Parts: sequence; C-alpha cells; structure tokens
Amino acid sequence: MTDSSHEGVHHAWWKEAAVYQIYPASFKDSNGDGIGDIPGINSKLDYIKSLGVDIVWICPCYKSPKVDMGYDVSDYKDIDEQYGTMADIDKLIDGLHARGMKLVMDMVINHTSDQHEWFKSAVSSKDSPYRDYYIWKKPKISETGEKCPPNNWLSAFSGSVWEYDEKSGEYYFHLFAKEQPDLNWENPKVRQEVYDIIRFWLNKGVDGFRMDAINFISKEQSYPDAPISDPSSKYQNGAMYYASGPRLHEYLSEIGQILNQYNAFSVGEMAHVFDPNEIIKVVGFTRNELNMIFQFELTDIDMGPAGKFSPKAWTPTQFRNIANKWQVFMQENDGWNALFLENHDSGRSVSRFVKHRPEFRSVAAKMLATFIGLQSGTIFIYQGEELGLANMPKSWQISRYKDLETLNYYRQLLHDVASQDALDIAMGEFQKKARDHARLPFQWDSSPFAGFSTVQPWIDVNDDYREWNAALQVNDPLSVFNYWRSILDLRQTYKDVLVYGKFELVATTHEDVCAYERSFGSQVALVVASFSDSTVNWTVPLNFLKPGKWMLSNYADGSPLQPEMVLRPYEAFMYLLSN
Ligand code: GLC
Ligand code: CA
Repeated sequence: MTDSSHEGVHHAWWKEAAVYQIYPASFKDSNGDGIGDIPGINSKLDYIKSLGVDIVWICPCYKSPKVDMGYDVSDYKDIDEQYGTMADIDKLIDGLHARGMKLVMDMVINHTSDQHEWFKSAVSSKDSPYRDYYIWKKPKISETGEKCPPNNWLSAFSGSVWEYDEKSGEYYFHLFAKEQPDLNWENPKVRQEVYDIIRFWLNKGVDGFRMDAINFISKEQSYPDAPISDPSSKYQNGAMYYASGPRLHEYLSEIGQILNQYNAFSVGEMAHVFDPNEIIKVVGFTRNELNMIFQFELTDIDMGPAGKFSPKAWTPTQFRNIANKWQVFMQENDGWNALFLENHDSGRSVSRFVKHRPEFRSVAAKMLATFIGLQSGTIFIYQGEELGLANMPKSWQISRYKDLETLNYYRQLLHDVASQDALDIAMGEFQKKARDHARLPFQWDSSPFAGFSTVQPWIDVNDDYREWNAALQVNDPLSVFNYWRSILDLRQTYKDVLVYGKFELVATTHEDVCAYERSFGSQVALVVASFSDSTVNWTVPLNFLKPGKWMLSNYADGSPLQPEMVLRPYEAFMYLLSN
C-alpha cells in the first residue's frame, strides 16, 4: 500500500475517487430489445469520463432469473444474455482502464437465486452436499398443531423470511424474496466458494466491489423471535439479530485479506445499523475489512417506524444533524464515509429532499449536489442524478410500477383488505421512495424513448425527457451536469481541503440553511446550502468575512459574501478563503 499519513488523516486512492453508479437495465440499450445492456454502457464511456468520475460501479449483470433485477444470481461467473457476454465485460474493463477509470462490480453474496445450481441441488434432497449451503429449520408447531415459520422475522420484501419446502418438511431462510435464499455463511465451504468468486473477478481485472447487503451475512444462530415493533403486522423487524451478527467481522476480515492482496476498492451496503461504533468496526482504517460502507440514516430520514413505505416528516435541521454526526464521527475515529443521496433503491433526490417546485428544480438539484458533494468522503453519483432527473409523475398509476418491493407491498395491503386511506398513504410513499423511479430509462436526448432505445423500453420513459436530458445539458455551462463536473473538479484541485480536510458545521441554529466549513492547515472552504424554497436571511459568521474567492454557485450571479445575506430559494455556494 502506498498510503501515507498527512495532517493526521490517512491518504488512500479510494478516498480521492468519485464513483458513478450504473443500473445496466436502464442505462443504454444497444440492440433494440428495450433493455439496457453492457454494449450500451461501452458506447457511453466518453460521456461518463466527461463527468470527471474515477470509478464506475455497475449493478449486477450476472446470470439471473431477475426476480429482483439481477440481485438474484444463478451463476456468479457468467454474464446474463440479456446484458451481453463475458467479452463485453472485458471490453468494459479495457475501455474504462484506457480512460483512466476503474470498474467496480456488485457482489451479491448474502443470498443466491433459487435457480442457482447450489440451491437446486439443496432442495432436491436433504442429503445433497449443497443442503448446508443454505439455512434450513424445522417448523414451529403452534398450540393448535399447525406448522409455523421458525420465527417471526419480516422479509425486506414483505411477508415472512421463511419459506416452507413441502418435500423436506423444512423451511428455508430468505431475508429478501423467497426466490433469494440466504447462504449459510457458518459453512466454511460456502465461504470458500464465495472467496473463489471474488478472486475470479479480481483476476479478470475488476478493481473492486460494492458488496450487497453485506452486513447480513452472519445471523444470530438461535434465531429468536423479534420484539413487536409493528403491532399491525404478523412479522417483525429482526434486524437486531442479523444486521451486525456475531461473526460479521470474522467474515469481513477474511474478505478484506483478499481485497488487500489486490489493492481493491470496497464499499459495503450496511442497512439497519445507525450506531457508528458498529460501523467503525468495518471501516476503521486499520481494521482491514471494507474501505467504506453505505449507511442509510440520512437517506432513510423520510421512512417511518413501520418501514420504508410508512411516512415520516423531517426537517432540514435533522438532515444537517445526521450528516454532521457521521462526518464528525468518521474524522475522529479514522474511518471514512461513502457520500450519496441516490441509488437504484429509492426515489430521486430532487423529488424527495426538496419541495416539488418545477421552476427551482435545477437550482435545487445543484444545491443537493453542493450539500453532499463537498463533505468528507468518497462521493457516489447515481446515473441521472448528474442531470437532476426526477421521479415519475404523480399521475402514473400503480400499473406502471414494476419493482417487486413496491408490488409486494401493495399486494400485501390488498390481501390484508387495507382501507382506501391506507392505500392512498402507500401510493403517496411510492411516489417518493419506490425503487421504480431510479430505474426509469436514462434520458439521453429528446428523440423517441429518450435515446435510450429504439423501442418501448421495459419500463416507461419519464414524461419530461424532452426538457431533461444529457444532450441538452452537456454543452450548457449552467446545467446540473456541468455543476456536478465543477464539484468533482474542485475535489481534485483542492484535494487537501475537500478530500482530506476537516469538516465542521457552521451556524447550526438556522432552520433551513446547512453551512459547513472544510479546512486543512490555513486553507478554509465555506459551503452553504439553503433547503428553503423561499428567500431566507443568513448571517455570515464573522470569521468568514475575509477576502476570498467564489468557487461555485448555483445561481448564475452568485452574490458576494457579506455580513447579512439574503439567500434565494435553494441557493448554494462554496467560497474559498484566501488566508
Ligand atoms: C440490496 C440491493 C437491492 C436488492 C437487495 C437484495 O439492498 O441494493 O437492490 O434488492 O439488496 O439483494
Ligand atoms: Ca438490450
């Protein structure tokens, strides 16, 4: 490793990187079947490069029946026909490397598809050598003599985590859909198989992984019932028994050893954990587990106690405080943040974290970019976020939603004969947070189907593609695209202060303004972002009233720093003090 320590912060190449996330089915269709594919990605590498990112993360494109859009893998060492071939992946690796970028693949190893050879064999007989690759339990017998699931845990996609297998009279365990059985990591053979898959891709030239649901791989082996947190449901959140299980760190250090041998990039997905003391065990610099993880405290701010589709009101102050909590904690504990507001699992940030005001959509997208993009951490941009793409229109009916998370939840409500009110609430939440929004076809230009495909795509194109697309933005200096470019550019030019510098909140009492300072030695950057859709007054703290330079502003005529500022709707800027 070539890392060195500078002003107390360890340097590392992956801290300086910006990552672009691609959802293959929705990025670019090359062969006119309405589904995005790898050759499609290969045809857009110059576009990606022009944004200024260093790493491309592609969501799964392994062989899969695609019950969960590829997060149900049936062969980890092959590419799904729908997405292309191994040769296409080789081209992608070469194409990125030739442009000085890296490729990160999505590693889905908490579970497989039920169509994986291992699972097919495991269900075929209790004596299968693969039976123990999965988690099997005998039924619980109720007082009335009925067979019941072994415990009350709720699956991420509604219903029980247990699925009954008639043939063997046992249940198998699945945290996600029943077609996604969890692997039994207690079995050393499973771990060897998984490590072999990891090496296979690293040997192919892949530069690292985004590790799907990685904190769920170790489960409390007694599988106790979870406490009742949602009295209206038969099933309860059991995360306390699997989100940071007893052997998690043992497994992650085994993975970390392999990754280290290749100097590979790693980011893990770590849902349901909000205690930074748990997370630092994974991302502490000297722990050698993972480089960084996605924790969801910030982006789950609008999720109520009964889960993703239950409503919750929130304020910009809370938003700011959560960001601050993780910034300060990581810098004090030699950890590292993954910064993101969007991914393939939720709604678009301009449709979630700011009010729907079409006239301010562009400034609001830039404000959010400023807020997240200049914090300390590795920045992740989800395809289309760089254009300020938005959720599908509210007028779209449930029939236009395609994702199983949304549809299972909706079907469960219908099955429970939920009231019209409950259905309306759910629909309102789908309009904000459903995964479908992020999965709408990428908007390349104003030609039919947004230049994504030559035919009707697998999921509808958003109505706004003629006004909101890449072709219009790339050459417009005031576009959201070029704003993101400036942010990534600033992070490179002022690496000391913007990558390695200290983070500190400024003027913490203002209701709508999030302001923070980044500093490194005598260099100081002030970052201000207003979350209000009207004008607000903001008093600049005295210590910033020094000569300096406007580096970035989301209004064409950025107002100079002065003691009493009137910030326009969603105004945001960065100012570099010239000490
Ligand atoms: C992660 C993925 C999500 C997937 C789930 C199951 O949360 O991001 O898309 O459905 O894991 O693999
Ligand atoms: Ca295609």
